[in-house]
Amino acid sequence: MVDTLTIRQPDDWHIHFRDGEMLKAVVNDTASQFGRGIIMPNLVPPVVTGADAAAYRERITAAIQPEHQFTPLMTLYLTDNTDPADVKDAADQGIIHAVKLYPAGATTNSQSGVTSINNVMSVLEVMADINLPLCVHGEVTSPDIDIFDREAVFLETQLQPLQQALPELKVILEHVTTADGVNYVRDGSYNTAATITPHHLMINRNHMLVGGIRPHYYCLPIVKRATHQQALRDAATSGHERFFLGTDSAPHLTHTKETSCGCAGVYNTPNTLSCLAQVFEEENALEHLEAFCSLNGPTWYGLPPNENTTTLTRRSTPTEYPASITTPDGTVTVFDPGVDLYWAAV
Ligand code: NCD
Ligand code: ZN
Repeated sequence: MVDTLTIRQPDDWHIHFRDGEMLKAVVNDTASQFGRGIIMPNLVPPVVTGADAAAYRERITAAIQPEHQFTPLMTLYLTDNTDPADVKDAADQGIIHAVKLYPAGATTNSQSGVTSINNVMSVLEVMADINLPLCVHGEVTSPDIDIFDREAVFLETQLQPLQQALPELKVILEHVTTADGVNYVRDGSYNTAATITPHHLMINRNHMLVGGIRPHYYCLPIVKRATHQQALRDAATSGHERFFLGTDSAPHLTHTKETSCGCAGVYNTPNTLSCLAQVFEEENALEHLEAFCSLNGPTWYGLPPNENTTTLTRRSTPTEYPASITTPDGTVTVFDPGVDLYWAAV
């Protein structure tokens, strides 16, 4: 049995750092393990201009401990009013690496998101011209669409028409959660990719809802049935070049999740690599872990892989990780996959 694995240092292609005290509390969990991260822009207020992104990047860099070499790759939050010229400037200056599309109302802090893709076509055309990827939260928001169907309906009614109209645009379906999404990406062109989270690989909706409701498993897009979980596991562990790691690690204070109307988001950074190694081992695919964590993402984004390496070992006793982390405003509960984990980064 393999019990040591050395891979290129991973990157996180979808991470929420927040701001202020929360930023300081979480950023080094990421910076100590990952080389780079695509930084989600759904702050309050959101990161909507190149100047906002440059200022946010400064705040992130200032919060990183000096021993870590971590590069934040910034994104803009697309709104109905985004100025295409500002997007182009920010990309030309190397301030941003992608733009994030949140359908208005789809998830945490998405109130300022896009109300109709038609409203942002001029921005998307510029992005296609300059090869700037669009990160997509792929869920419709219509109240009449069941929450478990919102990703599949989005693909059919929103994403496919967009990609037909603008095939040159690079599109990444963030945190894909369904077999429909996996098939969509697999059947798509090189311009279509997807990130997958550790928690969607580890749990399905039974884990969230059977025997009691577990608010720390609640995230968006919501975890689906086991057959979808297996489709994600097959995609991630296949080595396919257009599937790669985006943790979607999204810290919320514990008390805002353990309440009658809890927030969506899972904080998984402390055990991401342990979870992934376990999943890849269970799927007999440890040889593809490096592609998923460290190679496919940079290639798709047009960047070189990290020079550093990360070594993972498999222990005979369960790996320890904190149950929660502390911020001045309260704790953030760490993702508990519900099973012991044996792999850990050295
Ligand atoms: C994210 C958050 O809290 O910012 N929540 C989540 O459930 N994933 C937003 C997002 O990525 O949808
Ligand atoms: Zn997210």
